[in-house]
This record gives sequence, C-alpha cells and structure tokens, in this order.
Amino acid sequence: MHVGAYYYPEHWPRKQWERDIGNIAKMGFDFTHFGEFAWAFMEPEEGNYDFEWLDEAVEIASKNGLKVIMCTPTPTPPAWMAEQYPEILMTNSDGRVVRHGTRQHISWSSQKYREFTEKIVTKLTEKYGKDQRIWGWQIDNEPSHYGLNEDYSDAAQVRFRQWLKNKYQTIERLNDVWGTKFWSELYSNFEQIRIPNEKELVLFINPHAMLDFKRFNASEAASFISLQYNILRKTILKEQWITTNFMAIYDAVDPKLNDDLDFITWTKYPVEGANQGIGEQGFRRGLPYEVGFGNDFSRPLKGKTAAMELQISQVCWGDYNPRIYPGARRLSLYHVFAGGNSFVCSYRFRQATFNYEQNIVGMVGTDGVTPSDGGKEYMAFIKEMKILQDRRPKVQKKPQSYLKRNSAIIWSFDNLWATDYQKHTTRWSYRNHHAGYYNILKSFGCPVDIIRHCDDFSAYGVLIAPAVELLNAELIDRFNKYVNNGGHLVLTCRSGAKDENGHYWEAKRAQPIWELIGAEIEFFDNLPENCSATVRLRQQDFKWNIWGDVLAPHKNTEVMATYTDQFYQGKAAVVSRKLGKGTVTYIGVETTENSLERAVLKHVYNQAKIPVEEYPDGVIVDWRDGFWIAMNYSSEPFEVAIPENAEILIGQKTLKAADIVVWSE
Ligand code: GAL
Repeated sequence: MHVGAYYYPEHWPRKQWERDIGNIAKMGFDFTHFGEFAWAFMEPEEGNYDFEWLDEAVEIASKNGLKVIMCTPTPTPPAWMAEQYPEILMTNSDGRVVRHGTRQHISWSSQKYREFTEKIVTKLTEKYGKDQRIWGWQIDNEPSHYGLNEDYSDAAQVRFRQWLKNKYQTIERLNDVWGTKFWSELYSNFEQIRIPNEKELVLFINPHAMLDFKRFNASEAASFISLQYNILRKTILKEQWITTNFMAIYDAVDPKLNDDLDFITWTKYPVEGANQGIGEQGFRRGLPYEVGFGNDFSRPLKGKTAAMELQISQVCWGDYNPRIYPGARRLSLYHVFAGGNSFVCSYRFRQATFNYEQNIVGMVGTDGVTPSDGGKEYMAFIKEMKILQDRRPKVQKKPQSYLKRNSAIIWSFDNLWATDYQKHTTRWSYRNHHAGYYNILKSFGCPVDIIRHCDDFSAYGVLIAPAVELLNAELIDRFNKYVNNGGHLVLTCRSGAKDENGHYWEAKRAQPIWELIGAEIEFFDNLPENCSATVRLRQQDFKWNIWGDVLAPHKNTEVMATYTDQFYQGKAAVVSRKLGKGTVTYIGVETTENSLERAVLKHVYNQAKIPVEEYPDGVIVDWRDGFWIAMNYSSEPFEVAIPENAEILIGQKTLKAADIVVWSE
C-alpha cells in the first residue's frame, strides 16, 4: 500500500519547495497530491492560464522520486468568476446566494460553471495528460456542499424540472407518482414545479417530491464529475487513473452513480469529538465503524479503493477537537491497509500558519520542518509497510474460515432518504440502524461488503438487508432466488412496506414480502423517548424503544422473539423460516443495545453452519494479502488467539488500547 501526503505549493514561498518536497520524500512517502484548491493560481484572470509554478512543483516532486496525484480545482473557483458571473453560485434553502470565500459554493447545475470547468480541465489535461510524472487524477474534492447539502439556485430549479420531464414524460405521470391529489398540490405543467423546500412552505414537504429531489441532487453531482471524467479520459495516458474523493459518510451524493471512474477514493477523520469511542479515552481513538465504513462501502463499488485522506492530527471543525491517542493514527492506517486499500494519503504535509484550518497539524508543524506526533507515526508505519512488503507470503489464498464468513449488507440511498425524511419517530436513523448490523458482522470477524440491491448476492453466505422500506417486485424475486440457492437473508424492521416511489401497496402492510418472510406484519409501534418496552429471546429480555414491527407467523415459521409487554404482549418480534436451500430471518424490532440483533444473527450463522468469532466491542480482525491484522480500538487489553505455528511480523498478541498485531500463517 502506497503512502502519500498533500502538499500545497501555492501556500509557500518557492524557495521552500525544494526543502519541503525533499522532506516528504525523506520521511518515506512515495507520492504527493497537488492542486485541488489552486484554481486562482492556475487561471489568475479569465482565460489567462499559468501552470509554470505547477510545472516547477511537479518537477521537484519527480526529482525526489515522488509520484503526483493531480487534481482538478473545481471546488474553488477564483474570485473574478463569482464577481463577473454570479450565476455560477449556489443558493441555500433560505434563498440566499452563497458567496465566494470558502469552497464548494458553486452550482453544479450552472451552465456557465460547467463551461469554465470544461476549460480548466481541458487545459490541465493538455498540460499533464501525457506526463509520466503524474500518477493519477482526482476530480474535484469531496463533491458536496458540506452542511448546506443541496443547491436551490435558479439553474438547479431549471435542471430539476428537466430531470423530472425526462423521468416522467408527462405531468399526469408525475402527479400520480407524487400523489398530488392530496392537498390540491396538482400540477398542470412542469414549469409550476419548484424544488421542495421546507423554508418556502407552510409545513411538511411532499415525501415523493423530496425523494426525487434527493435523487436529482446526487445525479447532478455525478454528472458534474462525469463531465470532467470524459475530458480527462479522452486525452490522458492509459496508465493514469481517474478518481474522486467522496466523504466516506455523507448522505447527499451517491458514489455508485459514478461508475465511470476507475475507482472511488474516500476521506475520513475518525477523531472529531462528536463520538465517545469505546472505553476510557475512546474519543481519542474514534470508532472502528468510521474507517470500516470507508473501506467496505467504497471497495465493492469497483473492486478497488484507496483512502485519499486519513486524519493525521486533531482537526479544527469538530464540536471539540481532542488530541489523538498515541498510536491511534497507526491503528487507523492498519485498518485502511486491512480494508484492502491500494494507497493512503493524508491531509496535509505542512500545517498552515494561516486561515481557517491553521489548527490542523500536518506531518510537520508550523515551523515547516519538525515532524509532528502524527508525522512520526506515519514514518513508523511506512517502515512497517516495507517490512510487510518484504515478508509478503508467497501463498495469498484467503483462509477458508475467513472466506466462509464472507457477508454483505445492503446500503440504499433511497431508503436512507425516504426513512430519514419520514422517520415516524425522532429516534429513527437509517445510518445508526445500518451501523448496528455492520458492527455485529465485524464483531463476528466477517469480511463485509456494503453492496447495493442491484449487485450480485451470490458470493455471500449471509446477506443483511436493513430497513428496505422501499422495494419492488424484482428485488423480492432476487431475494427469493438468493435464498432458494442456499443464501441466508436477514431483513429488518420497516422492510417491504412501500413501493419504489414510496407509496404504500394497495394491500395489507408489507404484504408483498409476507410469503418471503413467512409471516404477516400486522402493524408497527414506536415509543416515546422516556418509555422502553421489552422483547424476549430465549428467556432473555432486551429493551427496545425505536421501532417494533408486530408479526403474525405463518405455519412452519419459527418465532424467535416475542414482545413481553404493551397491549400486544406475546406477539412475535423476530421470525425465521427455511426456504429452498437457505433461510430468511425477519428482525422486526430495533433494540437499544443491539444485543438481541446480535443473538439472532449468531443463530443465523449457526444454522448456516458458518463458524464465527466473538470479538469484543472495538476489536477488528481482518485478512489481506496473506497477512492477518488485529486492531484494538477499545481501552481494554485483548489477547489475540494467534496459532502456535504462525509468525508474528509486527506487534505482539496482547493488544493494549490502539495496538495492532500482524501475523502470517
Ligand atoms: C477534508 C477536506 C480537506 C480538509 C480536511 C480538514 O474533509 O477534504 O480539504 O479540509 O477535511 O480536516
């Protein structure tokens, strides 16, 4: 796995470039990353391009043996552009035009902005597209509007209408899907439609309009990226790859829509004060879910991924920004390695002495030369990677026990957007619900792919489909085939209730999946914040208060857990059935601690004769290229069961907080 660091030549006097870039190489990095925010330097005046400075930086990198990732600078247009062409700017939901001054303030829907983008990307391509010193290309940076999420500009309004016209063809069809008979919302032509926006309505957005707007926004981001991809691909060398770096956890864009890219990269800052982590000082280590999601969500998209940004130091944008636990960067670096990434890069080499991110420590601190704690950990990690490179086992076949546990969990933006908008209980969160199941799979030691409902399920012994509230007949059919062929499917609460447009079926609740799950879903319940109820599984009681589907099993369906209180005491909460060569389990309840879910999944794997591990919270064990890697995010020491005949290559088998161990068998 290659390791690199971001460098911003435009931030520093030219006379320091030799020294700085030389130090990047001396610290052991093998690539650097230029240009994603440098448009003002590449095109200081309209049509007047300047790459002379960039040429010099590329040359210094190359002299030092560093490969270069070249970026397109589209998150940060120069000030002259906003001044002369204000139509390039996005508008927030309050109707305020967002001004020049930070980044990602532009409208992907602006024709003018797309023209400028085409020009700068073409220039960059002409300049560096045949340049062997350029390793690959990054389009934009974290395509998003960060906290503003979506653009409500005039350009976006126009393109939204066009998108709807393409989708529905006729206004009658749109009226039908959007259910506009309700409250006389009925439209007589597409021109009457505005982006659904709570700020300009009395109350409540039409959920079908909302879902389409979310889909539209994601498709605008994707088409903006594809616009750049197509220009690059036409000209650049075959061996230069093209990617973009998505935030591993950001809900408004969908990387899957950019299937054109060679692979998707991701960015992650696990320690940002918002989460407590696991055990004492856990907030300094972050949660394993963070890097884990980056790995397992991004890799299956193209069978390959890389971490474009991984945290080096305390950041500046969290609620509070703690120092990182000693060793925790190395921990997350190993997690990235274990997750199959082909490279990892970090923001940034030199700490900025100015502007908003001046508190973010780099590989070196404010003097520009002294390695920070993070820099030292990266240096140590790079040395260890070299050891592993030399010790790479000849045979690299995935161990049978690990392969057998291969599992998948479905991720669905439609279900995220639909259920998080119509939560039905403020405590609902699609992401938390999904993360709960993901974490259980990792505690079982499973290799996990986070896949989409259209992907092939056949490689996975167990498939979890959390909260697929929106689905269609085709997906039900694919689930059926998967199970009949021997797969073990787990569906969870809310599933099957609506069609893909978010309409209830004209049938009983979730009736189209009754046959599949071997039960009826009579109704569901939510509970207020201060009230919790109980569900019982094999003499053990578990608390719940987010969601409870109340089930009526068919004949031959096993009831695994029942509600023990409320007026529906004794009714089923979890059911399981055999179907063809496989099984279907429906977990209708979301519990507070996820321990009922864990017990049910344990049963599913047992029944499937797939032996699993039982790692404590915070311990992750994965396999890559012939190496086993165990990592401890918790504060409790953990003794890894390493076989007698195995060779420990890095670390030792008793893992203290933030420790790792690597061995080969
Ligand atoms: C990333 C972003 C970088 C930098 C960094 C600071 O999300 O891509 O440009 O802002 O955060 O933590």
